[in-house]
Amino acid sequence: MKVLGIESSCDETGVAIYDSNRGLVAHQLHSQISLHQQYGGVVPELASRDHVKYLIPLVIEVLKEAKLNQSDLDAIAYTAGPGLMGALLTGACFAKSLAFSLSIPALAVNHLEAHIMAAQLDDATLEFPYLALLVSGGHTQLIAVHHADKYELLGETLDDAVGEAFDKTAKLMGIEYPGGPMLAKLADECPESLKNLQPFPRPMTDRPGLDFSFSGLKTHALNVWHKSGKDDQARLQIAHAFQQAVVETLVIKCKRALQQTKVKQLVVAGGVGANQCLRQQLSDLAKNVGIKLFYPKMQFCTDNGAMVAFAGWKRLIKGESDEGLSVFVKARWPLS
Ligand code: KG4
Ligand code: ZN
Repeated sequence: MKVLGIESSCDETGVAIYDSNRGLVAHQLHSQISLHQQYGGVVPELASRDHVKYLIPLVIEVLKEAKLNQSDLDAIAYTAGPGLMGALLTGACFAKSLAFSLSIPALAVNHLEAHIMAAQLDDATLEFPYLALLVSGGHTQLIAVHHADKYELLGETLDDAVGEAFDKTAKLMGIEYPGGPMLAKLADECPESLKNLQPFPRPMTDRPGLDFSFSGLKTHALNVWHKSGKDDQARLQIAHAFQQAVVETLVIKCKRALQQTKVKQLVVAGGVGANQCLRQQLSDLAKNVGIKLFYPKMQFCTDNGAMVAFAGWKRLIKGESDEGLSVFVKARWPLS
């Protein structure tokens, strides 16, 4: 079976084809970074218009890459939420219209579920139950996945998502949107001689539970920045101290959740899953506590069409698909 996947929930247009016999056969991504950069963040209306512009060319491109015709497709999966309403609507309307014209099913996919499933694109050995750490620009959650469709939220952020905290901390030091990956790069490049700041707090690790809070850490970074020379050296130092605090906090909570649930597999999903320091420290944790760690390839950590095609295929083989031609998208759509 061949499923076309369409991702348009935020600032990336992602299109891909997953073939159940051959795996991922084509994927294309158009990033809107340069479009939003001058505004310092995503402008929803511009995001929607840009998705409209790129959806058709990208679909043509993936069909060419996979050496397939439209008529070879068995279903079309699209992100139906959570995300920006206008951006979601462009992908949903397009996917449902194309599916209707080809007389094939359309499948609404939850973006968070797609992120979690991205780890299985390359490693199908993951089995239920498992623990998922979902760390993106909009979400920070620890989820126990008992079986397909049974997601139990164990903890989540009470304020900023971890990707959002990365982006905001970068911005307050004058690093351009989207600052998260750049902040991580600076943290990794920080020389030993500059790793001398007083360690930043590890929020909410001194009390029981699995919730997170990252907005105080961002404020802490701001205070340190104001007292610093506000130069490149300060950027390196703060980036490093900030990343260490975030990563250690995430690792402490993952360890706690693994002890609580006694599951033996941990999946890391979402854009911040691309963070090298997080990947390294979670690998160390996995070795120490004897669990298996799964994370997607770097390119499939951040938003992409491949995870949507794959999650759509998983739903299709269970006999699911959209009913009717109405288009429903959801700005909020918790997994649980
Ligand atoms: O999953 P994603 O592409 O979009 C959402 O669904 O939110 O995640 C984007 C987020 C952004 O906040 C971005 O700054 C962050 O992931 N991010 C990173 C890294 N790469 C992306 N944060 C820290 N380190 C990275 N290497
Ligand atoms: Zn995402």
